[in-house]
Amino acid sequence: MKIACIGTGFVGVVTSSVMAKLGHEVVGLDIDQKRLDSLKQGIVPFYEPGLQELLLETQQSGNLTFTTDYQTAITGAQVIMIMVGTPSAPDGQADLKYVFASSESLAPYLSPGAIVVLKSTVPPGTNDHVRAIISQHTNITFDIASVPEFLKEGTAVADTLHPDRIVLGVDSDHARQVLTELHSQLTDNIIVMKSESAQMCKYAANNYLATRITFINQIADLCEKNGADIQEVIEGIGQDKRIGSHYWYPGLGYGGSCFPKDVKEIASYAASIGESESLFIKIDDLNEKRIGKMMAKYEELVGGFAGKTVAVLGLSFKKNTNDTRVAPSLKVIPSLIEKGANVRVTDPKSITEIKPLLPDTVVYCSDPYEAITGANITILLIEWDDYQNLDLGKVASLMLGDKYFIDTRNQYNPSKVANAGLKYKGTGR
Ligand code: UGA
Repeated sequence: MKIACIGTGFVGVVTSSVMAKLGHEVVGLDIDQKRLDSLKQGIVPFYEPGLQELLLETQQSGNLTFTTDYQTAITGAQVIMIMVGTPSAPDGQADLKYVFASSESLAPYLSPGAIVVLKSTVPPGTNDHVRAIISQHTNITFDIASVPEFLKEGTAVADTLHPDRIVLGVDSDHARQVLTELHSQLTDNIIVMKSESAQMCKYAANNYLATRITFINQIADLCEKNGADIQEVIEGIGQDKRIGSHYWYPGLGYGGSCFPKDVKEIASYAASIGESESLFIKIDDLNEKRIGKMMAKYEELVGGFAGKTVAVLGLSFKKNTNDTRVAPSLKVIPSLIEKGANVRVTDPKSITEIKPLLPDTVVYCSDPYEAITGANITILLIEWDDYQNLDLGKVASLMLGDKYFIDTRNQYNPSKVANAGLKYKGTGR
């Protein structure tokens, strides 16, 4: 099957490579020629485990090509996937200008029976707009469908090759048949529904997960006040099958390119349809304030940051990615510097990306021990594998003064840290 993938951002590169791996003829389209030039050489413009290998393999097999030309990409394609960005508009809703522009550009080259699939996260009702735009530029019959993407950065290739489920939002038998056949190569668990429902699935999933994180952070805050240990509480509640024990990592709140944006977006979308008293506004507000609240606690604990040396481990928004969008480091480090701290930082993958975004006085180190050398306080922000099993004796020997070890993601056993001669501070314990 010929598949055109419009947009070679994160979702676009992963999806086009995976579809090509399944044996389809995939043409990736982007208006950014420089980006395509590097993709053609197998260079992925971001760090994602396993993606470069897949990109090279599928191009070498001849299944995956890239172009800036709509006619080349769309002519003869049975499925056209739109995976362009949907940045936040000033009112918090998704700005759909790229979705609409690509719909207009692809329309003249559509083949009869082609299916235009929206994979970008868009509000319910967008399909009608896209249908109207395309219909202004072609007389042929086509379908519009919604297939939301649930992959996570850091595990994107595995998530796409082995999804928990595929949600197909379709409005015709033809689209259902073709898209079911296409996705049955990935999983048997295909859930077919109306396109509006599929779009709500995407918003609901991300907003539920963001709510879950905010919830456990609120419980963690209570534990800090009453001597409970949040990790024990998680173990206790997680045994209830309705609750489950996974995806419960308290910390400094959620970041990245999706949750903060999708929560703001649904809050704004809810207000736009007359549902202004929503939970989502509160979730967003709590998450926005979370780092400031935690930094104030740390400041009090260590007796102020002025003149202290602080080592910060982990600068990306989570492990296994160099994506720094809404990364905790972007709030934590400027706040430390403003309070008069000397800051030494390290990260396995994202130093190049973060450097232009942080104050010039930050000292960059090539590994955690170098960052910790001479530090009074260590803050573990992101649990990269390299930072999960630090030699605590060595850490203690390299640090000076009170030697606070702030483990924001509860990766360490508090007693072991204390036994090494460090002062432990976790989240909610
Ligand atoms: C998220 C969703 O998990 C994906 O299903 C979805 O497809 C994607 O957004 C998207 O909409 O494109 P992602 O942003 O890559 O994926 O990362 P997650 O691993 O979900 O983490 C998001 C944020 O939540 C991170 O800041 C992470 O540190 C934080 N988090 C996660 C917690 O604070 N606690 C947790 O228990 C889990």
